[in-house]
Amino acid sequence: MNLDIVILAAGKGTRMGSPLPKVLSNLAGRPLLAHVLDTASNLKRCKLHVVVGHEARKVKQAFSSNKKINWIKQSEQLGTGHAVKQALKHIRHNSNVVILYGDVPLISENTVQRLAKLASKGPALLTFNKENPTGYGRIVRGSRNKVQAIVEEKDASPIEKEISEVNSGIMAFKAQDLTRLIGKIKNNNKAKEFYLTDTIQEAYHEKLNIQSLKLTDIDEVLGCNTLEELQTLERAYHLSVAKKHLNRGVLFANIERVAFRGDVSIERGAFIDENVIFEGEVFIGSGAKIGPGCIVHNSSIGKNAELLAYTLVEESVLENNAKAGPFAHVGVQTKMDDGAEIGNFVEVKRSHIGANSKAKHLTYIGDAKIGKGVNIGAGTIFCNYDGKNKNQTIIEDGTFIGSNSSLVAPLRLGEGSFTGAGSVITKNIPKGKLGVGRGKQVNLNKKK
Ligand code: UD1
Ligand code: CA
Repeated sequence: MNLDIVILAAGKGTRMGSPLPKVLSNLAGRPLLAHVLDTASNLKRCKLHVVVGHEARKVKQAFSSNKKINWIKQSEQLGTGHAVKQALKHIRHNSNVVILYGDVPLISENTVQRLAKLASKGPALLTFNKENPTGYGRIVRGSRNKVQAIVEEKDASPIEKEISEVNSGIMAFKAQDLTRLIGKIKNNNKAKEFYLTDTIQEAYHEKLNIQSLKLTDIDEVLGCNTLEELQTLERAYHLSVAKKHLNRGVLFANIERVAFRGDVSIERGAFIDENVIFEGEVFIGSGAKIGPGCIVHNSSIGKNAELLAYTLVEESVLENNAKAGPFAHVGVQTKMDDGAEIGNFVEVKRSHIGANSKAKHLTYIGDAKIGKGVNIGAGTIFCNYDGKNKNQTIIEDGTFIGSNSSLVAPLRLGEGSFTGAGSVITKNIPKGKLGVGRGKQVNLNKKK
């Protein structure tokens, strides 16, 4: 079965009250439309069409790296039926066509596939029951519970408004049915729009075998027309991702208080505390512990590694058993080897910390290559920037840095060397030597 997916994304989204085109509204760190595109892109033998209109340039630009999309312009937004009409000439004649909405972002691949298959029997719609159905098209059923029509909110009679089964907007047709039915719809309704939903009453008149699929997991089909609905979707999204992880054996303090803004892979047996935010591509190994309030951005946290409370990790790798925090910042391009530790108020950037090396308190480490088993005392600063360039510090295995040392790069501290507490180190220290660079203490008599 060939599949043509048409995603409607031309509307302005007036009800959102935001200057951004609606389909670019942010859901879990990405535009609404990105979620739909991701789902659609996973389908096999599928051609992808996106209908854009309002701020089309901005929308296309946001997805310029996706070369699979056939962009279709709807110059005037005359309704969902009119939008689909613009796509008809791009659709393969022998395809099943699925219409998705840019503002119904959480639809699953499985549901799309089921609906596409149903369409081989006749026009297929995806419905659900909604307690407060205001704003949605209502599904009108006649004898033997057969679908007869979809009535839009604006055109519904008081009795029709009582119907709680609603249209998700998502439909599937054989290409030839769709082309013929779209040709029949008119705009003689309250909104003066060409409604895609009117194809259903046309199909009923043609005595086609209308199919309907009613979903029980309604998060998949929640639409986004207002900022309040966007909030509902945001919660639904994170909760559904958390549940997927939970059911695979990931442990959470509270699945309602974790944000998944990206592509997050977590092994079973990892523990995630409250108010954790994952962003971008993230890997968390089994047995790892992510403390409360931590943010992990495009990073990998190894098995049994630990982030203590309020630690930020960006673009970095913590190997197995590494530990950071509380209140630590593992900045860009940092690698912490097995068992390496940084503690309270320590910031690390563009550095490699070797196995079992430790900086437990109040330290800045920048542009450093630190060997194994190094101990960095409290208050140590790697002075990596001379005002123009970033310079490197190399610290060999087993070195001991006394508290409150300033290490002025470029610098090399040889294996097993030491620095005296409070030293300003500007010259290399050879292997095994103690570098001291500070004023000598004098004990003076107190004035009487
Ligand atoms: C639509 C359905 C309604 C359904 C609801 C589910 C119609 C007529 N109504 O209503 O039955 O219950 O979705 O969420 O289809 N769009 C265009 N071009 C246009 C108009 C809209 O591309 O000319 C796009 C919008 O960008 C949006 C989608 O189509 O992504 C739906 O449009 P919207 O105005 O939000 O329709 P609803 O009133 O929500
Ligand atoms: Ca909508």
